[in-house]
Amino acid sequence: MSSSVKHPLEPLTAAEVLRAVESLHGLGKVTPTTRFVSIMLHEPPKEQVHAGKSASEIPRVAEAVLFDNATNSCYEAVVALASGDLVFWRHLPGVQPTMTVDEQFECEQAVLASTEFKAALKKHYGTDDTSLVMVDIWSAGNYGAEEDNTRRLARPLCFLRRDPTDNGYVRPLEGLRPVVDLNTMQVLRVEEYGHWPLPDVECNYAAERVPNQRRDIKALEITQPAGPSFTVDGYQVRWQNWNFVVGFNAREGLTLHHLRYNDGGQERSILYRASLTEMVVPYGDPAPQQARKNAFDVGEYGMGMCANSLELGCDCLGHIQYFDAHLTDSRGRLLTVKNAICLHEEDFGILWKHTDRRLNVPEVRRSRRLVISSVSTVENYEYGFFWYLYQDGNIQLEVKLTGILSLGALNPGEHAVYGNLVAPQLYAPNHQHFFNVRLDFDLDGLANTVQQVDVVADEQGPNNPFENAFRAVATNLSTEKQACANLSLERARTWKIINPEVRNSVGEPVGYKFLPGDNATPFASPNAWWRKRAGFVNHHVWVTPYRDDERYGAGDYPNQSAGGDGLIRWTAADRPIQSTDVVLWYTMGHTHIPRPEDYPVMPTAYIGFLLKPVGFFAMNPANDVPPSAKKKSCCH
Ligand code: NI
Repeated sequence: MSSSVKHPLEPLTAAEVLRAVESLHGLGKVTPTTRFVSIMLHEPPKEQVHAGKSASEIPRVAEAVLFDNATNSCYEAVVALASGDLVFWRHLPGVQPTMTVDEQFECEQAVLASTEFKAALKKHYGTDDTSLVMVDIWSAGNYGAEEDNTRRLARPLCFLRRDPTDNGYVRPLEGLRPVVDLNTMQVLRVEEYGHWPLPDVECNYAAERVPNQRRDIKALEITQPAGPSFTVDGYQVRWQNWNFVVGFNAREGLTLHHLRYNDGGQERSILYRASLTEMVVPYGDPAPQQARKNAFDVGEYGMGMCANSLELGCDCLGHIQYFDAHLTDSRGRLLTVKNAICLHEEDFGILWKHTDRRLNVPEVRRSRRLVISSVSTVENYEYGFFWYLYQDGNIQLEVKLTGILSLGALNPGEHAVYGNLVAPQLYAPNHQHFFNVRLDFDLDGLANTVQQVDVVADEQGPNNPFENAFRAVATNLSTEKQACANLSLERARTWKIINPEVRNSVGEPVGYKFLPGDNATPFASPNAWWRKRAGFVNHHVWVTPYRDDERYGAGDYPNQSAGGDGLIRWTAADRPIQSTDVVLWYTMGHTHIPRPEDYPVMPTAYIGFLLKPVGFFAMNPANDVPPSAKKKSCCH
C-alpha cells in the first residue's frame, strides 16, 4: 500500500488517508455525528530519518483529530497503517479543534434558513430573501462567557450581494451578528448592534466586471526549452545542490522537510522541518460589532484545508511541477486538492558580477531560485506561502497577503477612527497579521546553539580615537527565557544558528544567520482576550529544545481556548537550549492600515525572512555557477 512512498516524510497518499478512515471506522471510533477534523502523517522519529532509513523500513503512521458533535468531544487518534491498529487514543475534554470546511458550508446554510435571521434582515434591510446573503464563518473565540467554554460556536460576518456574482464584501450587514452552535447547526440568536445602511457602491475585480481593462500589455513568455533543472521523485525534490521533501497537511498547509545541501559530494543537513504554525489577525476597532474580530487562520480554519487548487489560476510561470494534497472532508471522504503545491524556477536578476577594469572582462552570473509555493483562501483573505532556495545557499520565506479587506459599513458623513474609508460609507478597520514560523534546524547534526547577535558601538577612548568603531557581539542563548527577544533596530539584531562541534575553513563553528524582515509588535494590550490565546506574539524570537509534540505556537487547540498554551507554556520551564537539538520560532507581524488602493482587491503585500549561510561554506557556494548561454541580442 505504501509502495509509492519514496521518503518517510512524504505526506499521506490518498490510499493512506482512506486506510486511516477505514481503520477508525473498523475500530468503532466513528459515530454518525463524528467529524474528521484532520488526518495527516504521524512523522517518524527523526533519528530514523537521519540514519538514512528508507520509507519501506519505517512504518507509516497516521494521526487524526476527530470531533463528535453529539457529545461536544474532541479525540486524538494515531493509527498504524499497515495493521490498522490504534496506537494512541485520547479524549480531550473541553477542547474545540479547527473548524472544518463542511462546517463553513453548513453554518452558512443554518444562518440563511434561520427565521430569526430573516426577521432581522427584514427589519434592517427590508427583505427576508436570504438567497444573496453571504455568511463567512468566524470562530466565536473566547471572551470568558460560559458558552465559549461549553459549546462549539461561530459568530459569522454576513454580507448581501447585489446580484449573484457581485463582490458581496462591499455590502456588509454591519449591525447583525448571528451566533451559531456548530454542534446542532442552530442559530442561537442574532445579535443586533445598530443599523447601518448598505453602502451604495459597486466595485468589482472579476475580469468580466471590469469593463475598461488596459490594452497596452504585450505577452511575456517564460520558456524552458530544455526543461527544468530540478528532478522530482515522489515528494522529494533535487535542484542543483539542494535536496528536500515537500510536505503538506490540513493544519499548516505547505511544509518543508529534511532540507540538505550537497557540498562537494557531502550531503549536509540544514533544516529538518520548516512550517507555519499559527497566525492571528487581530482587528483594532473597539465598536461592539467589530471588537471580537480576530482570526487564527491555522488553528481555527486550517491553512491546508483552505488551500487553492492552483491548476485553475495562473499562479506560476515557466515549467511547473505540481503536487496534490490528500485530505479528508469532515465525514472521512477523500478530499484531494489537485495541484495544491507549485514548484518552479525563477530568474532572479544578478547572482554576482565583477568587471576587471584592466582586462575589461565582465564576469556576471544570473541568479536562479527554486520556488515552492501554496496559496490559501481563508474567507475574504488570501495568503500565499513562498519558500525560495537560492544558489548561494540562501533560504527565504515570503508570505504574500492579498484578497479582500474585511469591510464594515458607516453612516453617511461618519468618519472611521479605527480604520479608513475605502469608498463612501465603506470602511476597513485597522488590523495586524501575525505569523508564527517554526524552524527546526539540524545544522550538520543535532547539537546546535542559537546566538543572538547585536551590533554595538565602542565607547570613545584610546582604542577608538575617531569614534567610528562598532562590532558584532554574539551571545550564546542557553535557556528558553534568555532566548525570548524582539527585533532591535538600534542593535541591527540578528540570530545565528551554529553547530559548535563542526568547524569551518577558518576554524569557527559552521552557521546560518537568521535575518528578520519587516515586523511589528501588537497594539492590543496583553490583557486583550485574543492575546491570551496568541502568546506567540509576545516575542519575535523564541528558542526551544526539540520536542516532536511541540508543533504549534499557540498550542494544539487555540480555537475557543482559554489561552496560555503553546510557546508561553513550554518556555515557562526555561529549559536548557545550548548545544542541543533546537527549534527557532519566529513571529512576524504586518500592520495593515487600510487605504482606498486596497479596494476592491488588495495588491499583494509581503512579509518574510532570510536564512543566510555564515561560515557554513568555505567560500561563495555559487562561484561555480557557469555563465548563461550568450545571446546575440545582448552582452556584447
Ligand atoms: Ni490586512
